[in-house]
Amino acid sequence: MNLMPVDITDPRATAYTMPLEDFDVSKAGLFQADAHWPFFERLRREDPVHYCRASTGGPYWSITKYHDIMKVDSDHQTFSSDSALGGITLHDRPDDFRYPSFITMDEPVHRPQRNAVAPMFTPPNLAQLQDTIRSRAGAILDALPRNETFNWVQHVSVDLTTQMLATLLGFPFEERRRLTRWSNVATANLNAGLIATEAERDEILQECANYFIGLWNERVNAEPGPDLISMLAHSPATRNMDRRTFLGNILLLVVGGNDTTRNSISGGLLALNRFPDQYRKLRDNPALVDNMVPEIIRWQTPVSYMRRTAMRDVEFGGKRIKKGDKVLMWYTSGNRDEEVFERADDFIIDRRNAKNHLSFGFGIHRCLGLRLAEMQLRTLWQEILKRLPAIEVVGEPKRILSSLLRGYEELPVRIPG
Ligand code: HEM
Repeated sequence: MNLMPVDITDPRATAYTMPLEDFDVSKAGLFQADAHWPFFERLRREDPVHYCRASTGGPYWSITKYHDIMKVDSDHQTFSSDSALGGITLHDRPDDFRYPSFITMDEPVHRPQRNAVAPMFTPPNLAQLQDTIRSRAGAILDALPRNETFNWVQHVSVDLTTQMLATLLGFPFEERRRLTRWSNVATANLNAGLIATEAERDEILQECANYFIGLWNERVNAEPGPDLISMLAHSPATRNMDRRTFLGNILLLVVGGNDTTRNSISGGLLALNRFPDQYRKLRDNPALVDNMVPEIIRWQTPVSYMRRTAMRDVEFGGKRIKKGDKVLMWYTSGNRDEEVFERADDFIIDRRNAKNHLSFGFGIHRCLGLRLAEMQLRTLWQEILKRLPAIEVVGEPKRILSSLLRGYEELPVRIPG
């Protein structure tokens, strides 16, 4: 049952006249229309721990204030990520189409699997990738057309992040577009046109599994190498994964490294165009890139929410959450909490506390790739500022149909010659 109509022509008026008990902020259409903001604003002010009694994913709680989100995310003993209970998305996956990975596991299983790939993301290891990222970013930017409209998402955001992902996985470089496709299929909303059924999704993802099994077989008997597949193949915690968990962990690394950073790259350019005074400030002082990067990630919030499942009855924010209830931590709302971020809807590249954003989560599942994501954004913007005085957004972005990932399919831009 759906309580809330998606066709919202005046989101603010609707958000402030609709009874709170009819709110269902999980509707993907709200996000595609970029119409979700006033609904979350009202929830933060009037009902910060909100119960939605019916949605396409069933009843669920929304946690919308910054400090409440941190509390839930940090309390993994009360709030579980386990895929057997439903995992990290509102919609429980059918048993046959479940791909467990360490982001959907609780302790003690989660930590050793996370540790298997953690060496990739240490500062010394990332420092070695810095030059590669810089030269790839430079090459992508130098090849961009001048004086003509093109889609920034495909030409820059997808290209740079997919190249990086291929390197991390030790994936054949010339075949890297397969990664983009698998990532898109893994995250697609069934109503968005890419795939129609879970069975179709599974069929394509089994191709992904087969391809990676080929890479695994090459590496499992070879000396340990510096790529993520080799790390998984040589760690006792991940060496003997069943096929579904193998696919789950591969997809976690593919999606984690792809969509989120991609959408931050697009979102940053959009933000600078929406706030031209900030673009001017950046051109006058390119050193501000360092602080702009967390501000981009706050403003964009590429992962809108993560779900948990309550493992016991718990009193929270004056409400009684019952064992088994679904709890959604809306990072997208916490990052706009006016009690923590002044003028929270504005993009301010020298914002004093930009780094305190919630976009990477907290607690045991805090994003493993966060330093890499920041490095990619920082390096790309440094290279842009060296080369291109202006990149103009010349049309409305086309947003993806998802309440989980906040992203773009198209961002039309033009670089003056
Ligand atoms: C701006 C870019 C990114 C954002 C916003 C982001 C966001 C997130 C979020 C919200 C979580 C879950 C946190 C929680 O439940 O508390 C997460 C976990 C994770 N991320 Fe990222 N991520 C980004 C980039 C990356 C990159 C580049 C990689 C690696 C290639 C990556 C790999 C992972 C992994 C492996 C996990 C699971 C960690 C665990 O369960 O222990 N992420 N990320």
